[in-house]
Amino acid sequence: MLDQNFTIAELDRRSEHFDLALAKPYQVWREKKLMSLQNGELIQRSINISTFPDVSKEEIEEIKAQCTDHGVAFYHLDSDQSPSKISTNDLRVFAKTLGLLILDYHHCTEEDGISVLSVSENPKKKSFIPYTNRGLGWHTDGYYNQPQQQIRTMILHCVQPAAAGGENELLDHELMYIQLRDESPQIIEALMQTDCMSIPSYIDSDGNKRIESKGPVFYIDSSTGNLQMRYTARKHNITWKDNKETKEAALAITKLLNNENSYIHKHQLKAGEGMVANNILHNRSPFIDNSDTKRLVYRARYYDSLATINTEQ
Ligand SMILES: [Fe+2]
Repeated sequence: MLDQNFTIAELDRRSEHFDLALAKPYQVWREKKLMSLQNGELIQRSINISTFPDVSKEEIEEIKAQCTDHGVAFYHLDSDQSPSKISTNDLRVFAKTLGLLILDYHHCTEEDGISVLSVSENPKKKSFIPYTNRGLGWHTDGYYNQPQQQIRTMILHCVQPAAAGGENELLDHELMYIQLRDESPQIIEALMQTDCMSIPSYIDSDGNKRIESKGPVFYIDSSTGNLQMRYTARKHNITWKDNKETKEAALAITKLLNNENSYIHKHQLKAGEGMVANNILHNRSPFIDNSDTKRLVYRARYYDSLATINTEQ
């Protein structure tokens, strides 16, 4: 169930550590966040789901806790379940059990709202990198969406990994926020401008028009008080605000993503393994299929946030 009962005061309290005018709340939050990286490990153990797609209360709590601490939780099917038998409907049931209900539909999702990511010969899909074996650059999902269509949670579930490649790199955007704010609060200020980054309008092969998306890179989610990020590393069909502060801020992000960064976590999903994430930064390396082994990953994107789901109800 979604808890929509936050008052304005409660929302302010939940997000005051992101207020650039307040140093103390930021320092407290920063310390707590960095403390959660236990023993220097970015990600804790993968959670065993005993009867996928049904999730126990304890498993839900573990997924939520890891998403809170690390922005992502990894899970895997119990060993007596066959990864190849999992359907897109199973993924929907799994997500629903977590309290995730409102799927983001776009023109390449299946009718049930789940995207089946594999190398496709479908003319509608093959011009989009997720449906090829090419690498995907750093991004958050739905960076081109409108404000009312924010992706707050995404799930990737691997039915079959590629013969080689297809690794994900992940970076919790809260950690990137810390890195950037520690470098200079002016970087954060530039990235929170509402006209910071624009994605132009687009017409798909079915003639559907997606209108221009203009907004900040970092923003506070008005329904949770959480920090959200809207970002793509792509160089074409993107317009950054034309001033020095924004260009320097965009360059600071690029450096953190492309240079050695101990907060970047690499992970190659195995068959029957998946991740639930607070739409943190991620990419995908190129991969190679062969006649026996073709990469197949289900992707579900939700407007719901795990942060607002109360499992007591
Ligand atoms: Fe993605």
